[in-house]
Amino acid sequence: MEKITAAITAVQGYVPDNVMTNEDLAKIVDTSDEWITTRTGIKERRILTDGASSDMAAAAVAQLLEKKGIDPLEIELVIVATVTPDYPFPSTANVVCDKTGMKNAWGYDLIAACSGFIYALTTGAKFIESGHHKKVLVIGVDKMSSILDYEDRTTCVIFGDGAGVVLLEPNTEGNGVLDSILKSDGAGRHYLIQPAGGSANPPTHKTVDERMHFVKQEGQQVFKFAVTNMAEVSAEIMEKNNLTSEDVDWLVPHQANLRIIDATAKRMGLPSEKVMINIQKYGNTTAGTLPLCLWDYESQLKKGDTLILSAFGGGFTWGAVYLKWAY
Ligand code: UT7
Repeated sequence: MEKITAAITAVQGYVPDNVMTNEDLAKIVDTSDEWITTRTGIKERRILTDGASSDMAAAAVAQLLEKKGIDPLEIELVIVATVTPDYPFPSTANVVCDKTGMKNAWGYDLIAACSGFIYALTTGAKFIESGHHKKVLVIGVDKMSSILDYEDRTTCVIFGDGAGVVLLEPNTEGNGVLDSILKSDGAGRHYLIQPAGGSANPPTHKTVDERMHFVKQEGQQVFKFAVTNMAEVSAEIMEKNNLTSEDVDWLVPHQANLRIIDATAKRMGLPSEKVMINIQKYGNTTAGTLPLCLWDYESQLKKGDTLILSAFGGGFTWGAVYLKWAY
């Protein structure tokens, strides 16, 4: 029997129209365009002023289905990677299915912070590889502005809102998801966390007063782990699959910090032309960064191109996916 791989056969992004520049932020908190640009590479980010994560995801899904000419009823499974679900429950996947008419799909949300998309992509691929499903949507979406403290300059300048979706379908030409290495270390949970709102610290007046529903990050600590682990796991997946830097056409890195991206590319021996970067215009959209990169660079991708997707985020979670572009 022919080996079935899960290929990305379409990609679509959605970002809100509303742009928040570094200058806009400098009017709210004690920061500057110079600091944000040199420390992170970010110039501006998009902010959703009206609506929820499901609205961005649904917009991306609707556009993807339209451009591929696929009836929503054909989609069998929807996995939504997010840390900003519409509600603790029901899942954002349920809401997106309802908003886009995917009445025959089942779905669920997956929390792996900035690694959410590679976790979800790997998981979704299994349902295709097993022969169980023929059409799976993997979505990375976050409305980070809903959990940002605009009095905390160390976090509010970094993140933005956005969504991306890919369609996975069976492939027998050897293209698609070929390998992944996924890791986690819960000992890192204190360094990047939304402390309240879950069962550990349910919402109370105190949690609100103490601003515990917002993202808290010890930036330097996270940076240290991110820069090492994202580079290491990217090199590891290359070695495991006997790939040299010449074999890799594109690095698709999580967009948290240009310095982390540069270190990863350097460790892999890749020149900057092979690295997808859009952090300057969207900031860190958490689960949204990787599909938004694929969307932005779609026109430059060729059938058979070798891609390494790589991410690091809260949890800690991190990993890399090796795939061949299918169209
Ligand atoms: O995506 C999930 C994973 N997250 C990451 O990968 C993020 C990893 N961390 C980082 O990218 C970086 O640590 C940051 C961009 C968050 C911060 O950059 P940094 O070079 O590590 O800065 P720092 O935290 O060491 O702060 C340096 C200085 C401090 O002032 P002092 O103590 O030297 O006087 C901060 O108070 O910069 C100050 N600072 C700011 N200044 C202007 C912190 N945030 C700002 C700001 N504007 N927005």
